[in-house]
Amino acid sequence: MPKPRIAVVGAGLMGHGIAQVFALAGNDVAITDTDAPTLASAKDRILINLRDLSDDVTAVERVRVCASLGESVAEADFIVEAVREDLIVKQKLFAEIERAARGDAILASNTSVIPITAIMGGLENRARALGTHWWNPPYLVPLVEVIATEWTTPAVIDFTMKLHAAIGKTPVHVKKDVPGFVGNRLQHALWREAIALVENDICDAETVDTVIKAAFGRRLGVLGPLENADLVGTDLTLAIHQTVLPAIDARPGPSPYLEKLVAQGRLGMKSGEGFRTWTPEQQAELRTRVLRHLKATRDRG
Ligand SMILES: NC(=O)c1ccc[n+]([C@@H]2O[C@H](COP(=O)([O-])OP(=O)(O)OC[C@H]3O[C@@H](n4cnc5c(N)ncnc54)[C@H](O)[C@@H]3O)[C@@H](O)[C@H]2O)c1
Repeated sequence: MPKPRIAVVGAGLMGHGIAQVFALAGNDVAITDTDAPTLASAKDRILINLRDLSDDVTAVERVRVCASLGESVAEADFIVEAVREDLIVKQKLFAEIERAARGDAILASNTSVIPITAIMGGLENRARALGTHWWNPPYLVPLVEVIATEWTTPAVIDFTMKLHAAIGKTPVHVKKDVPGFVGNRLQHALWREAIALVENDICDAETVDTVIKAAFGRRLGVLGPLENADLVGTDLTLAIHQTVLPAIDARPGPSPYLEKLVAQGRLGMKSGEGFRTWTPEQQAELRTRVLRHLKATRDRG
């Protein structure tokens, strides 16, 4: 059976990487972007990544650059969108895609946190639409969250799960379309408490990061929290929660401390200061460190 033909709409940070993974797995990929320079550089960026990872560079030949949305999606079996994180932009885009794509093509959004229901609610055929949330960089982080809405058919979910498993990703089925899905809910629950610890002067920002990296962060790649809870016992977990949960930050909105940082223009690395100050050398070192770690993890399988 021929491999599904893929269309990737948006050739930025995520889009070019998603196209790369499909092409490397042997799928033909059409890619488009409204920004001409971004589109023009997409294949070069993919080639640089393939070389850097010692992957088959001929994979880039399976990527076809398309100047128009219509051309990119016309033949596709599976269409994934990776444009700007903006609900209105995505809603308009999927209305256009629905008009230009085949009636049986599957439509997916790579939104990070916007509910898929909000993006796809206006479509004529909502049964074939769902979320596929990749993580950055798409060619190094295995997970893809496959998010169903109340309208998505089981066949569409099944096809999408198998498609992503076939290209070497780790797809998981998210059964309900909640903001942040699974991964970003967990990640930002941790970030909320991390910020509260600094806000309440319990420790500084560097200490928060050290505690995670030098303690349970060491285990997290091989031991999830619920495996860990079973490992130590649900009774012990309950006892810990009875003491700790009442003390943990449970405010419903963003921390005032975070709001103040943003209001002061302390935007993190891009302004040289956020929770901590960052020289250009420190920023480069951090980026190199993360990439080296992700590559080593991929090599270990
Ligand atoms: N960056 C991440 O770490 C990350 C991780 C997971 C998911 N996401 C999500 O993926 C999506 C893309 O993020 P990104 O970081 O790649 O952004 P990006 O800004 O690097 O790329 C977005 C691209 O979309 C293009 N674009 C905008 N409107 C378009 C349209 N109507 N048609 C075609 N192209 C259009 C832009 O020109 C740009 O090149 C967002 O929804 C984001 O939330 C990002």
